[in-house]
Amino acid sequence: SFQVFRDVPELRQLRRQLFKNDRTMGLVPTMGALHEGHLSLIREAARENTDVFVSIYVNPTQFGVNEDLSSYPRTWDSDVEKLEKLNEELGSLGAGTGRITAIFAPTSKIMYPTLPPSSEIDGYGSFVTITPLATKLEGGSRPVFFRGVATVCMKLFNATSPDRVYFGQKDVQQTVIIKRMVKDFLVGTEVRIVATAREADGLALSSRNVYLGARRRTVGLTLYEALSAAEEAYKAGKSSRDDILGAARSVAERVLSEQQTLSPSERALYEIDYISLADPETLDELDLVDPNRGAVLSTAFKM
Ligand code: PAJ
Repeated sequence: SFQVFRDVPELRQLRRQLFKNDRTMGLVPTMGALHEGHLSLIREAARENTDVFVSIYVNPTQFGVNEDLSSYPRTWDSDVEKLEKLNEELGSLGAGTGRITAIFAPTSKIMYPTLPPSSEIDGYGSFVTITPLATKLEGGSRPVFFRGVATVCMKLFNATSPDRVYFGQKDVQQTVIIKRMVKDFLVGTEVRIVATAREADGLALSSRNVYLGARRRTVGLTLYEALSAAEEAYKAGKSSRDDILGAARSVAERVLSEQQTLSPSERALYEIDYISLADPETLDELDLVDPNRGAVLSTAFKM
């Protein structure tokens, strides 16, 4: 039902056909290990376009030297199976809904044709840098992450010329950076953001959840509970930083003190890395939320 492409010229040939036939294409960039969160992006893309391209590529330049590049889950066969099943589902929705027509699964030779081995990357090659956005929040502890994300997305956009691109709200700083890149580089695509898909208890679906044991899972869930408390405070009429972030902090501290009562082997101890209430475009920290502009609430815990 879809074709798998490893290289760009053949993919561009299909893309030209689509342009010629007045079809529209939505691109969903992923690193594979697909789950319902990825599928919800694809469903949204299929509602808004006749054709959906899904890219599957574990992008080395967005991993720090001590991060999980070599162990990142790679599940090609089950990814393809999930996409085939989803295409059947989309097919049953009739002609008003688009289909997945291409999977783009390039090699690093295709994506980084002139880049030297990773040990020599610094100071070489072409990168998209977006400052100071990429240094804030998550960028504080992951200095090369957003440079790698912006760079690979620029390549994917150039390779596929999508009418629309789809990103998950879960990775909110990534969405802010991609929107900025598209604006600053006059990229001719529309950036669409899709709500976070969660497990029944609220934990956000993530390819990296396979790493979570019971203790880390508790910490992950506390993130969600803290953010929810802050959102509730905002919805109840609070608009100051102290009121909104205070609600999140008190949840984080309550759970932490509950954890202290458990035995050391069950205990999930963590520290707040950052907890942020920031402007949706600049990510500058806010003292007060302007309801006309809204705000981005985000947090990270370390354990
Ligand atoms: P990956 O982690 O595979 O995520 C691909 C897309 O799925 C991202 O836009 C992410 O925000 C979205 N996503 C992940 N979990 C989600 C969830 N629970 N609900 C909704 N959307 C979710 O993010 C990346 O890959 C990479 O950085 C990439 C953009 C592909 C560049 O390499």
